[in-house]
Amino acid sequence: MTGPLENLDAVVEELLDQLAAFTSVEELDAHEPVLAGRRSPLAALQKSLGGLDPEARRDAGARLQAARTRVEAAVEGHRRRLAAAERERRLEADRLDLGDVVAGAVPDTLRAGHPGLVARTQAELEDVFVAMGFRVAEGPEVESDWYNFEALNIPPAHPARGMWDTFYVDLGEPETVVLRTHTSPTQVHLMEAAVRDGSLPIHSVMPGRCYRRDTPDARHLAAFHQVEGLVVDRGITFADLAGVIETFTRAYFGTDVDTRLRPSYFPFTEPSAEFEITCQICRGAGCRTCSHTGWIELGGCGMLDPAVLEAVGIDPDEWSGFAFGFGIDRCAQMRHEIADMRALTENDARFLEQFS
Ligand code: PHE
Repeated sequence: MTGPLENLDAVVEELLDQLAAFTSVEELDAHEPVLAGRRSPLAALQKSLGGLDPEARRDAGARLQAARTRVEAAVEGHRRRLAAAERERRLEADRLDLGDVVAGAVPDTLRAGHPGLVARTQAELEDVFVAMGFRVAEGPEVESDWYNFEALNIPPAHPARGMWDTFYVDLGEPETVVLRTHTSPTQVHLMEAAVRDGSLPIHSVMPGRCYRRDTPDARHLAAFHQVEGLVVDRGITFADLAGVIETFTRAYFGTDVDTRLRPSYFPFTEPSAEFEITCQICRGAGCRTCSHTGWIELGGCGMLDPAVLEAVGIDPDEWSGFAFGFGIDRCAQMRHEIADMRALTENDARFLEQFS
């Protein structure tokens, strides 16, 4: 065939080749006028049809239109494929790989914590007592006046109440309610339960938080932790008590720490004692932490007063026992040589991380 459309097929093939070389929608959009639009060689051919006679012009026009349609369809098809590929690439790039997160690819911002020093010390102390044959029990932190004081042989207005500066809880009840000032009320709960279930004897330790309206200092906190010990059995003597305290201090602090018992007074024990160890900050030489005495009091102890056994319905002629209660925070302080106990509550990561 001759005439203006002589090379039409070759022109179309050339346009389709150019089209195939474009690799992005953006590039394709920029070149579209050259392929199928105003600046396309097809548009130029259109103009050249003006010189043909009407019949030849109609035929040529139809052929040209078919060629344009073909090129336009190819442009549209290629644009769709490019757009789909681009969307695919974007999704792939945005994907959050949780496998990487678990493997630590998100650094530093997520760090595992660890139990605090007090919780860890409590667990270690429990282990020591469990190894000695004690069970572990717990009691409430909010107690009635009866459990915290009266059942422990401390009636209202007894002068010994001054030993425990107390936080009172106003629940609008006629009964007086307190934050427990020591773990000793848990003794009462345990003895009551044993009487109810007929499960005497008792050999238990009871750790937990206690509260006193004290001004915190180097060895006191207003919210602190004690572990109470209670043995109720037949034929228990002070030697059993002294033996338990000695065994526990050796197991927890080691053999080169001195222990001593000093006569003391508690309304619920008779006789009563305080037990102390050599101050671990100054090794007994005297320092600010031990108020220059060389000794640190860990807690109190004594033989159960018969009045306490009677208050819960245990016959003091058949049963006897001892109790002790000492500070968990104090043990942590001595074991790790922390000169000021208030460091335990300050949440300073540099301090806490030493005990991970
Ligand atoms: N509960 C007493 C205190 O916290 C300690 C103690 C417990 C003393 C058991 C004797 C027997 O001060």
